[in-house]
Amino acid sequence: MKILIYDAKSYDIESFSKEVKKYKDIELDYIESDLDIRTASLVEGHEAVCGFVSSDFSAEVIAKLAKKGVKLILLRCAGFNNVDIEAAKANGISVFRVPGYSPEAVAEHAMALALAVNRRIHKAYIKVRENDFSLDGLKGRNLHGKVAGIIGTGKIGAAMARICAGFGMRVIAYDKFPNKDLKFIEYMSLHDVLAQADLISIHCPLTDENYHMINKKTITTMKDGVILVNTSRGELVDTDDLIQGIRAHKFHGVGLDVYEEERNNVFENRSHEILETSITSRLVSFPNVIVTSHQAFFTEEALSAISETTLQNAKAFIAGKPLEFNQVK
Ligand code: NAI
Repeated sequence: MKILIYDAKSYDIESFSKEVKKYKDIELDYIESDLDIRTASLVEGHEAVCGFVSSDFSAEVIAKLAKKGVKLILLRCAGFNNVDIEAAKANGISVFRVPGYSPEAVAEHAMALALAVNRRIHKAYIKVRENDFSLDGLKGRNLHGKVAGIIGTGKIGAAMARICAGFGMRVIAYDKFPNKDLKFIEYMSLHDVLAQADLISIHCPLTDENYHMINKKTITTMKDGVILVNTSRGELVDTDDLIQGIRAHKFHGVGLDVYEEERNNVFENRSHEILETSITSRLVSFPNVIVTSHQAFFTEEALSAISETTLQNAKAFIAGKPLEFNQVK
């Protein structure tokens, strides 16, 4: 099977090229551009495509891929909100993902954002480089003894909950399907989690029902001085409402690894460009906000797990024994 890997960065090429040596019947080609309606035509000669979080798997693109003979979409990520699953089904294309390559990688980044924004590490770093050793504007709050509110306690949320418990925080959570094995977590309604937490960390997938779950109304229910961290998907938070909340001094800090409008930014060096839309620039203008560019997954361990599972998905598909747990239906 020939697989075309879209949006291939040097680190993807490095980990996939190493991993593919274990597979006799799989051949990989790499392309730097991400998948969209124009680049879909480059798939000629490949039965499978591999894409990432910002690849465009809309109905239109999927139809074009199908016409070129594609039978398999391999997502090298956990989230699949960028794939029109119905269109894939209608075109006879199977979709697989990597559901849990390294939950700890994402959870550790979520805590890194919470700590950095709480103690203003991003500001302190720049101040000290400028020989400014004053402490103005750097005051943080202890996390020990405070309440961590986790939204979505799947693999990543559970890892974040364990980290928070390790910091001596009381852990409360909201999940549509609470996990009874996580005995140290107190489950409650979303409203109560938002109302009681000092640190809110979002770890649920983006679905039709939770689009903009953090909005003007839900922000109002939060405690003043709360820290909000989102490493899940940008559209879970209404950014305009978030910005209003930041301006109203609602938040002690906000840490975002994902945000609306990230699509054109993700993994691109745009330092010479004038950004035409304003969400990114507005967010980074606040002293108590840290934005990273969808890097929570980015550890050595996660990259090897991603290439390993992606190729296992392809191999099992070829063998006619698809790995059902990884299949998106
Ligand atoms: P998971 O499937 O293990 O857990 C998701 C949890 O959310 C489940 O317990 C589920 O019951 C719960 N849930 C579903 N809908 C919900 C709702 N409306 N409200 C509250 N809870 C809900 O997923 P995992 O592996 O923990 O990943 C979570 C998300 O993290 C992914 O969907 C993805 O969007 C994001 N992610 C971000 C990465 C990054 O680099 N920033 C990397 C990997 C994942």
